[in-house]
Amino acid sequence: MNGAETLARERIFSDRLTVDAKGMLCIGGASVGDLLQRFGSPLVVGVEETLLANFERIRDAFGTAWPGPSAILYSTKSNDTLAFRHLLSRAGAGGDCFGEGELRSTLDSGADPSRVALNGSDKTAELIDLALVHGVTINIDAADEVDLIVAAIARTGSSARVNIRLKVLPDELGPYMGGSTQRHGQGIASVRRAKWGLGPDAAQQIAARLQQTQGLELTGFSVHIGHLSNRPEAFASIATAFGATVRKICEKLDLRPSILDLGGGWAREREPEQRGVPIERVTVETQVKAACDALASALGPLADPVEGPVPELWVEPGRYICGNAQVLLATVGSVKEDCGFRWVNVDISTNNLMRIETGAFEYQTLPASRMHDLFTTAQEIVGRTCFRSVVGAGRLLPKLVRGDLVAILDAGMYAEVFATQFNSMPRPAAVLVGAKGEIELVRVRETLADVFAHHRVPGRLKWPEKE
Ligand SMILES: Cc1ncc(COP(=O)(O)O)c(C=O)c1O
Repeated sequence: MNGAETLARERIFSDRLTVDAKGMLCIGGASVGDLLQRFGSPLVVGVEETLLANFERIRDAFGTAWPGPSAILYSTKSNDTLAFRHLLSRAGAGGDCFGEGELRSTLDSGADPSRVALNGSDKTAELIDLALVHGVTINIDAADEVDLIVAAIARTGSSARVNIRLKVLPDELGPYMGGSTQRHGQGIASVRRAKWGLGPDAAQQIAARLQQTQGLELTGFSVHIGHLSNRPEAFASIATAFGATVRKICEKLDLRPSILDLGGGWAREREPEQRGVPIERVTVETQVKAACDALASALGPLADPVEGPVPELWVEPGRYICGNAQVLLATVGSVKEDCGFRWVNVDISTNNLMRIETGAFEYQTLPASRMHDLFTTAQEIVGRTCFRSVVGAGRLLPKLVRGDLVAILDAGMYAEVFATQFNSMPRPAAVLVGAKGEIELVRVRETLADVFAHHRVPGRLKWPEKE
C-alpha cells in the first residue's frame, strides 16, 4: 500500500486530490510542494469546486426527495471562512447562525435573509433586533424569548418570523448515539438533558401565544439533534418524531406551517468522526430520502399538496458542505525513535484539529510528498505542543523524515473554528484554490504579535529599562 492507493480507496466524489508523476499530492491541481513553498508551512488549503459540489449535491438531494420547496441553510459554525460563506451565498445558500458574528457575516456575504435562521438558547435583545430588521427567521428556544421578540417588534417596528425549536426523543434513536453524546447520558437520555428545544407541551403553549401576537408570523418548527450516525434509519426516526409532534400541535391549534427546519448532522461518506472504524458508505441521497419520506408520512395532510401548500423544508448542513473542502498541510521536523516507537513531529498540532482532543476524531493522513512510496513503518504523528498532541497514532506510512510533507484530509469541518493558540502558537494561513486554478490567500498567517495583541501589562509591572 502507498499514499496514491490509499487515496484511491478513500476518495469521495467531491475530493479534488490527485498525485503527480513525482509522487506529490496535488489539491485542486496545485502541487502541495509548490503551495508550501509559496505560502509557508503549515497551510490550510481550501478547494472551491469541492465546497460547491457538496452544496449542490445536498441541495439536489432535498430538491428531489421533498414534495415541496426546500432550501439549504449553510451552518457557518462548522467553518466560518468568509470566502466560503461568499461562495455559498453566490450559489444560493441561506444560513444557520448562532450569535451576532455568524449572523452579520452571513448577511454581509449576500445570503438571502429570507433563508437565514437565527438559532441559540440565549439570544440577546440586540441580536433579536438585528434579526427582525433584516427579516431573518428566529428559531425560538425558550418561552421568555417570546417576550424579547414582542419588545423587539415594538422597538424596531419590524415584523417577526419565528419557528419553534422542538425537542424530540424517539427511542429508536438510542442505538445510533455513540461517541461524545454518551458523556451526557445513555442513548436518548443525553438528548433529553441537552439544553436545546422544547417538549411538545411547552411548544404548544408557546405556539398558542404566538398565534395571538400582533406583528408576528409563526412560520413553523425546527429540530436539530446533531450528528449521530450515517444510518438512514437514524434520520428517519428524528423526522418521524418531528413530523408527528408538528402534526399534533398543528391539529390542536388549527395551524398549517409554511417552514419546517430539519437542522444539520447530514453525514459525509468519509468521516473523521468514524474514529478509524470502517463505515459503510451511505450516500446523502439515501439519508435524505429516508428523512423526507418519514417526515411527509408523519405530517400526513400537512405535507399533502391537495390539502394546501407543502411547507418549505429547510436543512442546516455544516459538515457535509465543508468537511473535505479544506486540507491541512504540515511539514515533518524532528523524528525520534526509542522504546519501540517512532515519533514524527509535524509543524501543526491538535491546536489545529481540536476535535481530536474533544471528540476523538481520527483524520486520514497522507504522505503528501511521497505518495508513491510504500507504507513500511508504524509511526506516531505528533504535534508541537506540550499536550501529547497525537495527530495520528500508530500510522502506517513511508518512513517519514525531516522535510517530508503530510496532508490531513477533512480538516474543513470544526477545525479552524476551534483552533487555539495553546503554547502561544500562531494559527496558520489559509488559501483557496479556485475553479479556474486561482490560488488566493483567504486567511493571513498569525504572528506572535497577533497572539499577544489583546494582552495588556499594567504599567506598574513593566521594566522601564527594557520596554
Ligand atoms: C442548530 C444546528 N444546525 C446545524 C448544525 C450543523 O451540524 P452539522 O455540521 O453536523 O451538519 C449544528 C451543529 O451543531 C446546529 O447546532
